[in-house]
Amino acid sequence: MNLILYFFLAAALFLHITFSTFVISINLDGYQPEERAALLQLRDSMTSSLDLHSNWTGPPCIANFSRWAGIVCSNWHVIHIVLEGIQLSGPLPPAFLYNISLLTKLSFRNNSVSGPLPNLTNLVHLESVLLSYNRFTGSIPSEYIELPNLERLEFQQNYLEGQIPSFDQKTLTDFNVSYNYFQGSIPPTETLRRFPESSYGHNLDLCGFPLKPCPVPPPAPSPPPPSPMRPGKDKKKKLEIWIVVLIAALAALVPLVVLLLVLCCYKRVQRKETAKEPQAGGGPAGWTEKKLTHSQSTKDPERKVELEFFERKIAVFDLDDLLRASAEVLGKGKHGTTYKANLESGDVVAVKRVKNMNGLSKNEFIQQVQLLGKLKHENLVQIISFYHSKEEKLIIYEFVPTGNLFELLHGNRGVGRVPLNWAARLSIIKDIAKGLAFLHRSLPSHKVPHANLKSSNVLIHQDGQSYRSKLTDYGFLPLLPSRKLSESLAIGRSPEFSQRKKLTHKTDVYCFGIILLEVITGRIPGEVSPRDDEIVEDLSDWVRTVVNNDWSADILDVEILPAREGHDEMLKLTEMALQCTDVTPETRPKMSEILGRIEDIEQKN
Ligand SMILES: *[C@@H]1O[C@H](CO)[C@@H](O)[C@H](O)[C@H]1NC(C)=O
Ligand SMILES: *[C@@H]1O[C@H](CO)[C@@H](O)[C@H](O)[C@H]1NC(C)=O
Repeated sequence: MNLILYFFLAAALFLHITFSTFVISINLDGYQPEERAALLQLRDSMTSSLDLHSNWTGPPCIANFSRWAGIVCSNWHVIHIVLEGIQLSGPLPPAFLYNISLLTKLSFRNNSVSGPLPNLTNLVHLESVLLSYNRFTGSIPSEYIELPNLERLEFQQNYLEGQIPSFDQKTLTDFNVSYNYFQGSIPPTETLRRFPESSYGHNLDLCGFPLKPCPVPPPAPSPPPPSPMRPGKDKKKKLEIWIVVLIAALAALVPLVVLLLVLCCYKRVQRKETAKEPQAGGGPAGWTEKKLTHSQSTKDPERKVELEFFERKIAVFDLDDLLRASAEVLGKGKHGTTYKANLESGDVVAVKRVKNMNGLSKNEFIQQVQLLGKLKHENLVQIISFYHSKEEKLIIYEFVPTGNLFELLHGNRGVGRVPLNWAARLSIIKDIAKGLAFLHRSLPSHKVPHANLKSSNVLIHQDGQSYRSKLTDYGFLPLLPSRKLSESLAIGRSPEFSQRKKLTHKTDVYCFGIILLEVITGRIPGEVSPRDDEIVEDLSDWVRTVVNNDWSADILDVEILPAREGHDEMLKLTEMALQCTDVTPETRPKMSEILGRIEDIEQKN
């Protein structure tokens, strides 16, 4: 009896297997191997929070059906690729879409895709191209204006630059290029004129309808941002053009004169080239080395390198003046060393020699620093000027005398220390919040506008009893293309950074919360706690435990403990600090709200 049963079972299984194999082999007739190969390029070259490697296996399409996450098929062809909000990062493989020729929708919204926009040649069926909220760089490829069926185009919140091409597809109904670094005039095509201001807002320098009218005469196509920072090349180019014109005019008449002229100019160019850029020395000693190499060649008066100035209050100086200045090291960080430079004119500036930004194009660097240089606020250290060459990148800041919040809070504890009272602490907190709220308002397109907010980057000028705080070292995140480099910024300690989640303005709010706790508790984040000998890795966790156990006043710095009348404010601020350092970024308050609450607390004082 059992044997018969087994036989039937085995037979059924056999039939089932042969039948299924049969079915599959018939069904895979429409299989498109080149589309699969294209998607595998994407799968294997990028990282994401979805495990595409285990999900994207087998054929992408089985007739109108797909088992691949984010893929929609029609008649064996991939027609949608929609990978949104999955932390997709890295650059797209070059030209991988070429063979997915029936694609109608491409969306990578809300990821961290970097590098240039995808090449869409051949994809004539495309209707939606949704690439907003990423880290795309470069300009919009011209082939995009030839996509005949385009309906939706989203590029907002990227790092795109250059001019907007003349899109004129009648089909286009959604268009957004806001929050990028586009510049120049918006082409006055019938299609592009249909979209509202918010489609174009928050760019580096866009003009024309529906934005402000362009200056007359309209800017030439893709004018590079005016920058006197590349003296060598520009002057050389002008010189070359001049030579060509001269040759054309004189060649026929006096070849000998031309020859002499060219020879003489060539020599001048050569001389300029040798003196153009100082050799970069390694480490802080390089400063003095450079001073030497430079002063050797000061005889040549034509070699002056002029700097672009954002701040007019200070007497204009050039690179030579700067290199001739006596300099002392103010601080060394992972991203460069900062010097105090005493200029011969009597002015004092802080100069940051930037490291680690060599992966960055000159344009990217200049655009970013120009953007930051335009920011003016009493609670931000003003960028005065900058210098860029292949070997050397300098950012010149106003010099803030006295010290920083870290030193003020933690330095010189013990005999001889002047305690920092509660009123002073409250005014410092308010200044930081004002500076940060301004940055968040002014740099809406930055993922994390400050990105390196910590107590040593809050410079404090002490004027009698009052303290004025200014934030420094802001706005560097877009200059650090790799995660490895941004790890050493203050945002590297936020929960979302270690969990590889999306960074936002709220990541700055987290850093602000940590500073707030540092000011209230007088403790250094990541230091051994004197009370329980445990390492306070995360100040906010420690405070949370203490506050939960109802020992609230225990957390306060001994220096402010006696100020009983302030306890209420202190605990309110502690509560706010804990909201700011919440693990979930969305539940943290916005900077504008935080500033309002601090002002309320202060007024009730
Ligand atoms: C891939 O993921 C999707 C959605 O998460 C799921 O429905 C599908 O079964 C997965 N496919 C494979 C082959 O694991
Ligand atoms: C364009 O995108 C920005 C940023 O996401 C948004 O604020 C704006 O409303 C959008 N405009 C249009 C017309 O979609």
